[in-house]
Amino acid sequence: MQKTETKSFDAWTDFYSAAPAIGKWPLWPAEPLIRMMRGNYVPGIDKEYAGKKAIDVGFGSGNNLLLLGSLGMELYGVEVSENICEQTTEQLSHYGYKADLKAGSNRSIPYPDDSFDVLVSWNVIHYDNTEEHMQQAIAEYARVLKPGGRFFVSTVAPNNKILLGAKQLSAHQFEIGRTDDFRKGEVFFSFGSPENVQKFFGRSFKDVLVGRVTEDLFVDVLDWYMVTGRK
Ligand SMILES: C[S@@+](CC[C@H](N)C(=O)[O-])C[C@H]1O[C@@H](n2cnc3c(N)ncnc32)[C@H](O)[C@@H]1O
Repeated sequence: MQKTETKSFDAWTDFYSAAPAIGKWPLWPAEPLIRMMRGNYVPGIDKEYAGKKAIDVGFGSGNNLLLLGSLGMELYGVEVSENICEQTTEQLSHYGYKADLKAGSNRSIPYPDDSFDVLVSWNVIHYDNTEEHMQQAIAEYARVLKPGGRFFVSTVAPNNKILLGAKQLSAHQFEIGRTDDFRKGEVFFSFGSPENVQKFFGRSFKDVLVGRVTEDLFVDVLDWYMVTGRK
């Protein structure tokens, strides 16, 4: 049976509660995000981050907030439960960073319009799994970015291990079948092609670029679309 959103939010809260004690939390930012933000791969990108405001939607352990903090940015974030916000606030303070973290979701970000210079959403947006919800999530990302602000998103691409054995329910909906993953039964949104990513993000953003990272990790393949653009 398909998981409801509440069940899925509870499962994530449990996942992070069970994480190792302070100092043993996963702290490594996503390397492709570092490349996108710091490297010379995104034409016209403004790499003056210090003092600007960044939000991480679905920040999880706060790994990418550490990156944003190390760039001198003011830190904000949204997660699916207060519990995760409290835990990650504590983790970040352990490493010397202060962050304003609030409960919310892709489609409900509790900050005013035009708040942020940068928005990161790393492996999070596909939990909004209907076309309508996906479009609302993207519009919500655009709402909280300042005009000219930039987003950095990653989302599952077709060969990602999480989609192995999934049941396709409609053009973009895949029910996770992996028995070795706590997300079994959850429905993911899969764009399926770079053209579809462009189509969805292009409705709310300009200068949209779509890249892809595929890692063959011996026993499993990780495969993501990376997306950036401006409001
Ligand atoms: C695969 S983890 C990624 C965490 C982190 N961004 C990273 O890169 O390590 C997915 C995260 O999305 C959060 N999440 C799940 N559904 C969400 C939703 N509808 N809106 C916002 N975040 C959600 C989960 O709590 C979880 O922390």
